[in-house]
Amino acid sequence: MLRLIPIISLATSALTLSIKPTLNDAETTQLPLVIWHGLGDDFERDGLNSVADLAKTTNPGTYVHIIQLEETGSGDRQATFFGNVSAQLETVCAQLASDPILSTAPAINALGFSQGGQFLRGYVERCNTPAVHNLVTFGSQHNGISEFQSCGMSDWFCNAAESLLRAGTWTDFVQSHVVPAQYFRDPEELEPYLENSAFLADINNEREEKQEDYKRRLSTLNGFAMYMFENDTVAVPKESAHFADFNSTDGTVTPLQKRKIYTEDWIGLKVLDQQDKLDFRTIPGEHMQLSEDVLEKAFKEFFGPVSSVVMPAQEDESPGLIAQPA
Ligand SMILES: *[C@@H]1O[C@H](CO)[C@@H](O)[C@H](O)[C@H]1NC(C)=O
Ligand SMILES: *[C@@H]1O[C@H](CO)[C@@H](O)[C@H](O)[C@H]1NC(C)=O
Ligand SMILES: *[C@@H]1O[C@H](CO)[C@@H](O)[C@H](O)[C@H]1NC(C)=O
Repeated sequence: MLRLIPIISLATSALTLSIKPTLNDAETTQLPLVIWHGLGDDFERDGLNSVADLAKTTNPGTYVHIIQLEETGSGDRQATFFGNVSAQLETVCAQLASDPILSTAPAINALGFSQGGQFLRGYVERCNTPAVHNLVTFGSQHNGISEFQSCGMSDWFCNAAESLLRAGTWTDFVQSHVVPAQYFRDPEELEPYLENSAFLADINNEREEKQEDYKRRLSTLNGFAMYMFENDTVAVPKESAHFADFNSTDGTVTPLQKRKIYTEDWIGLKVLDQQDKLDFRTIPGEHMQLSEDVLEKAFKEFFGPVSSVVMPAQEDESPGLIAQPA
């Protein structure tokens, strides 16, 4: 049965905001925050903007940039279903590199919701200019999805995407036009995936020929926190949020550390883990059922002010200013 991911949007319940004085410590820098939202969401949504506000009140002085692929909310939402993810990433790379604040900051923090999480990881691997300091993902599909979830009855975009998926997940057309198809991965059928996956097989470096740059760039992260929703039935399998492999026949979960992507370190996760830079978190709830409390804790822990010291720059050999944990 073919199913498609339903519309996922953040809770729109108003978040409590309080204005705190701006940190005025010359020793520390408040890095900007970039947010990439999930499927069916758009940059204009109240829920997303509440998250941005919470980031600012939790860490005063935070400049927040919500990634948008189109000028209008409806266009931006449409782009979560339809498009060539690699082309979308190129747009995002150009968008972040041309933002006067992001491009001149010592580094940026990044927050990805659901599919936005694996796309931001793709940003780090493919561009990373400006460089990401801490990457935090919630309910993301780092190891892909093995099922498409069903749409709401009245959701035109979702239903249109679903009918295209019916035409065949691995066709060139679907792989270059339907977003969730580009991170579809069924462990029982890896061959067509490795051959045709337009996005995930590439950024996970699963093909014979490895992109060494992907590993080099991802290894420069200061921290990479992956949150899994304990009761996630929308993103299947939920363990994908932790890069784990799930066998749907016998229910076995193979954790990242036992998989080749890690043991052979195709993308730098082993390097990061050995430096204690990977964080695997599990939180209660269904897909993207985020509480203000969980978010605030994550923002304090990963997006707080950092002390600025001179360190080697990431994309060239010359010394530059890179933020270190405070
Ligand atoms: C998707 O976009 C990438 C990056 O722009 C491009 O190289 C690739 O050819 C595109 N794929 C298709 C099928 O158009
Ligand atoms: C999943 O489990 C079944 C039963 O143990 C096994 O036959 C199959 O090979 C496993 N699939 C993968 C991809 O390892
Ligand atoms: C959520 O998942 C946990 C762990 O799998 C389980 O013990 C619990 O019963 C689930 N809760 C709900 C409401 O389904």
